[in-house]
Order: sequence, then C-alpha cells, then structure tokens
Amino acid sequence: MAKYRIAWLPGDGIGKDVLDAVRIVLDALKFDAEYIEGDIGWEFWKHEGNPLPDRTIKMLKTTDACMFGAITSKPKEEAAKELDPELKGKGYVYFSPIVRLRQEFNLHTNIRPCKAYPGNPLNYRDDIDLVVFRENTEGLYSGIEFHPLPSEVMEVFLKYSEKAKRFKDVPLDDIAVSVRLYTRKACRNIVRQAFEYAKRHNRPSVTVVEKPNVLRETGGLLVREAREIAKEYPDIELQEANIDAMCMWLIKNPERYSVLVAGNMFGDIISDLSAQLVGGLGFACSGNIGDDYGVFEPTHGSAPKYAGKYKVNPIAAILSAKLMLEYLGEEELADRLEGGVAEVIREGRVRTYDMGGDASTLDMARAIAEKIKR
Ligand code: NAI
Ligand code: MG
Repeated sequence: MAKYRIAWLPGDGIGKDVLDAVRIVLDALKFDAEYIEGDIGWEFWKHEGNPLPDRTIKMLKTTDACMFGAITSKPKEEAAKELDPELKGKGYVYFSPIVRLRQEFNLHTNIRPCKAYPGNPLNYRDDIDLVVFRENTEGLYSGIEFHPLPSEVMEVFLKYSEKAKRFKDVPLDDIAVSVRLYTRKACRNIVRQAFEYAKRHNRPSVTVVEKPNVLRETGGLLVREAREIAKEYPDIELQEANIDAMCMWLIKNPERYSVLVAGNMFGDIISDLSAQLVGGLGFACSGNIGDDYGVFEPTHGSAPKYAGKYKVNPIAAILSAKLMLEYLGEEELADRLEGGVAEVIREGRVRTYDMGGDASTLDMARAIAEKIKR
C-alpha cells in the first residue's frame, strides 16, 4: 500500500493541464502516493446542479491531503442559465466549491509563499521572499450580508451604536451591509501559524497587516492577540502595519518583510500584490490548511482560453505540491522539488509563454523532473 492517499481534483480548464504537470514532478520524486481522482467544477454544476458533489466530499475524507487545479465559476444568475434543461427551475443555486471546501473541512489557514527565484524574468526585484498567512474562513468574507437591511437589524444598530444614527433616515432598501466578523480563536490561530512558521524557517519577523486605528474592534482584536502571542517568540520581531501603507511598502521595500499575517480580506489583497512581485499567476501557489486536512492549489483560475493547450506555466501548481509535501512532513522531498524549480528558473532555458519563452506546460514539468532525478 502507498504511504499516502492523495485526492486529485483537476477541475476545469487549465486545472487539468497543470495537475498533469504536477504528477510528472511528484513521480520524479518517487513520492509514495495513491491518487484518487474526484469530480469538481462546472460540468458537475451543469449536469447535477452541484459543482462539488457529495461523493467528492466523501472521497476527500478518506485521503491525507488534496491537490486541486482550478474551477470555472460564474455569478448565480449566469450559472442558473447554464444548467441542463431538466434541472432548470428546481431551486439549484450555484455556490463556489472552493468556499465550500474551506468551510466543510474548516481550512482556516491560507498560506501563500511568494519568492523571487533568481533568474525569473518576471521578478519585480530579486530580493523578495514573502510568506503570507491569511485567515481563510471569517472576516469580511464570512458571508453575513444584508441588502436590503432588515429593519430589526437597523434597530439593533441604532440601539448599540451612536455611529449608526447618521443612517437612520436612509431607506432600508438603499443600505447594504457586509459584516466583518472576527473570532478570538481564529485571530489567535492565524497569528500562531505565522509565528510557528517563522520559528521553523528562521524568519526574522512577522508583520501583522490590519487597520486598527479605523477598524477598532476587529482590527484591534487581531493586533492585540498578535502582541500577546508574539511574547512567546522573543527572537522574532512583531511588526505592525496598516493595510494601505503596507501596499506602498511592499512596492517600495519588499525585502524588509518576511512573514505577513492578516485577516481574510486584507490577506487576500496582500497575497495578490505579493504574488505579482514574483511573477504573477504562473508562480502563485497556495495551501488551505485546517486542523486535520489540507487542500493545495495554484491561485489562478481555469483560464478557459488556454484550456487543454498545455501552454500555461505549471510552476504555481508545482510549488503548491511543495506546500503539500511540507504539510505531510516530507520536508526532504519538498526541498528537492523546490531545488528543481529554482534550478530550471535560474538556467532560463525552459520558459513558458508568460516568462517570454515557448516551452509547454509539460516541457516545464519535465525539465524540473530531470533536475530532481539527478
Ligand atoms: P484566470 O486565473 O483563470 O486567468 C486569467 C489570465 O491569467 C489567463 O488568461 C492567463 O493569461 C493568465 N494565467 C492564469 N494562469 C496562468 C498560468 N498558470 N500561467 C500563465 N498564465 C496564467 O482568471 P480569469 O480569467 O479571471 O477566470 C477564469 C475562470 O476561473 C473564471 O470562471 C473564474 O471564476 C475562475 N477562477 C477560479 C479560481 C480557482 O479555481 N481558484 C480562481 C480565480 C478564478
Ligand atoms: Mg486555483
């Protein structure tokens, strides 16, 4: 029997192209795994009214971790139009299978390393090595939203908040509210993960990115918890930055930062910003990690116009597999994988189109596999 059971969810579009590339690299590493392919994505929405069928969730529960490619998704109304005729009008509502995965498996931690590998022509600068920890299940993306605002909710606002009085005469239909909900547990957890990572990898600092001067309660909670936890790590400096200023500093002095930690929305923002500093979507890897499961995926989507053409850069997916290996405790394999990626980038002979070359997705994977084997 193989040492690991890995759920394999290519999904839509280039999800398959890049996961094919990942397999070439994992096989070169002789990673001891059995791969179980599962259904997810647009086809299953159209034909079954569910982009993440229950059988897939059930299968995932029998595995140690999941590699996920990408999915196509569309707004609710558009999605409903594409349902098979016999499913139309039966109350099926599209929801994002990624969000569902995060909730179903409580994948509270999103980790996004952004490293400028020397030789990558897309590097904004060559001295960037950031790791973003983003809270993955709460904050402004909790999904607690109102439009129109129910009158009972307005009454509660008026009862408990002086600030709400300014809005008391606005028609409720003209008010939309999205709730930014932070729990102490999630704040502590995401900060803890960031510090533990910094400790394991000898990182000098952790920067908490918030806006506590304005978002006093939620931002305040996260920053206070960060200060508490930081006391347990005297060798690691805690830095505090406001999200707006941070976007400037990351462009001006990205080399000054190491590990970044933030709530869901600010984490979302700085991870895309950071990814673009080191090559963009072709390089942006991620892990969604919970207490007992992890889903690893490139952050790009299904890029329909490239689907099946084996043209896109698989490095984002391959580096996501590296995160999976680390999650499974296979540090040695993870290091070898990263070494292969770094060497191919440094040599600059094999480059996909985004890097200015004409190598295919699988050429890139095979080049990395060659380095790993030797
Ligand atoms: P996208 O990420 O799929 O692609 C946008 C463009 O980025 C592509 O056309 C291509 O030029 C470039 N690109 C993406 N991946 C690349 C790679 N590996 N190498 C080189 N270039 C790459 O975003 P788009 O076009 O906005 O969305 C397409 C579909 O994907 C939509 O249905 C969207 O909802 C979905 N999506 C899914 C995500 C996921 O599965 N996690 C994330 C983002 C979008
Ligand atoms: Mg993805």
